[in-house]
Amino acid sequence: MANLKEKIKLVKSAVKKSTPLYVQFAVSKRCDLKCRMCQAVESRKDERELTITEIEKLADILCELDIGVLVLTGGEPLLRKDLPEVIEAFTKRKIPVRLQTNATLATDRRVEALVNAGLKEVTISLDTLDPVKQDNINNSEGSWLRIIRGLSVFSKHLPLKGNISGINIVVSKYNLKEIPNLIKFTTAIGFYASLIPVHLSGNGSDAKPARGADSEFIVRTDSPDFAFTSDDFSLLDSVYSDVLRMKKNGYLVYNSNRFLRESPDFLKFRKIYWKCDSPTLYFSISPEGRFLPCVDIKTDKSIFSSNFIQQYKSAEFIKEMRDIVTKCPGCMYACWPEVTYLCRDPFVFTERMLQGFKISRFQRKPMTQEEMLRAAQELRTSEF
Ligand SMILES: C[S@@+](CC[C@H](N)C(=O)[O-])C[C@H]1O[C@@H](n2cnc3c(N)ncnc32)[C@H](O)[C@@H]1O
Ligand code: SF4
Ligand code: SF4
Repeated sequence: MANLKEKIKLVKSAVKKSTPLYVQFAVSKRCDLKCRMCQAVESRKDERELTITEIEKLADILCELDIGVLVLTGGEPLLRKDLPEVIEAFTKRKIPVRLQTNATLATDRRVEALVNAGLKEVTISLDTLDPVKQDNINNSEGSWLRIIRGLSVFSKHLPLKGNISGINIVVSKYNLKEIPNLIKFTTAIGFYASLIPVHLSGNGSDAKPARGADSEFIVRTDSPDFAFTSDDFSLLDSVYSDVLRMKKNGYLVYNSNRFLRESPDFLKFRKIYWKCDSPTLYFSISPEGRFLPCVDIKTDKSIFSSNFIQQYKSAEFIKEMRDIVTKCPGCMYACWPEVTYLCRDPFVFTERMLQGFKISRFQRKPMTQEEMLRAAQELRTSEF
């Protein structure tokens, strides 16, 4: 969790809406997994990755833009051997960094180096307590066990007090029934659950748009077997009601109540109840330094073009980006709408302030791999 000074700055930025609050940088274009709902690697195959010298320049730009939080994502960030240096490029400029990872490559030595470079928080992807299902989603045998091992490594080395490390759970037809048990699991291990409705590029039917370079999206792809059909709708409503109840009863759920209330309509009908605030409140940087409205939408702008900072603040640039964003069908990737809600919805703002207070007093207990496996085993055998 951000220190007090960083927290005050975030609250001020949310109220004033004058600086970008949230930025994601895809540090790596590579990945060791091949998740069936994600085409991030294929769509970036023609890009290169920034060198550490270029990343230092990027850090200067983001520092001057006075961003609130930077999320390092990918591809898989842990594939970069120089990840500690990458993190340090930002933390030494006082930019708070969060890491988004599948955790499969986490070892004691590597995670210790990340923490020494200033990393305090991670978000790890885990979609199910069932190893066979996870391996199927990830297209990689043994991935579930590697994720749990990685989780235990981060659990051991990250600061124990006042941080909000989390588990990203992509909600799809594969795991709907086990969402409440997954939340019990993340709570038992002291991580906040963040539910992300699955995003599919097609309409869930046979009409498959191309993957990768030819697709209009960077991350989401068409995997019809992840999609819900009308037969699932009542279960969908009842699971999300359960999640709201669990959150009220103290389970560690990071999503706002508004986000949880609006998610079922997105999963059923792709209905959206918010307007995107990119590029003013948030944006993203691609592996080779392209400026993107978010991780899922392409442009050919470079963040290294001359006078970028002036450009970013100009009415022409904002209009150009807004024109791109307006054509986007919208999303419910948790991060982007949640920043908009935080800045524009007083109920969500109040909820976040109260949650921030709770988190500042939150003390996590480190858990070993064996303890995590036992917790998963117990929950797996109870009714999903
Ligand atoms: C693209 S990954 C990059 C970071 C890292 N490799 C990981 O998996 O955490 C970032 C997040 O996007 C999620 N994601 C991937 N494809 C998605 C989709 N089609 N819909 C919603 N979320 C998706 C992943 O589960 C992960 O939590
Ligand atoms: S979701 Fe993450 S781990 Fe899975 S393929 Fe995409 S980038 Fe890799
Ligand atoms: S609405 Fe579109 S442009 Fe905005 S964050 Fe979501 S996917 Fe990106």
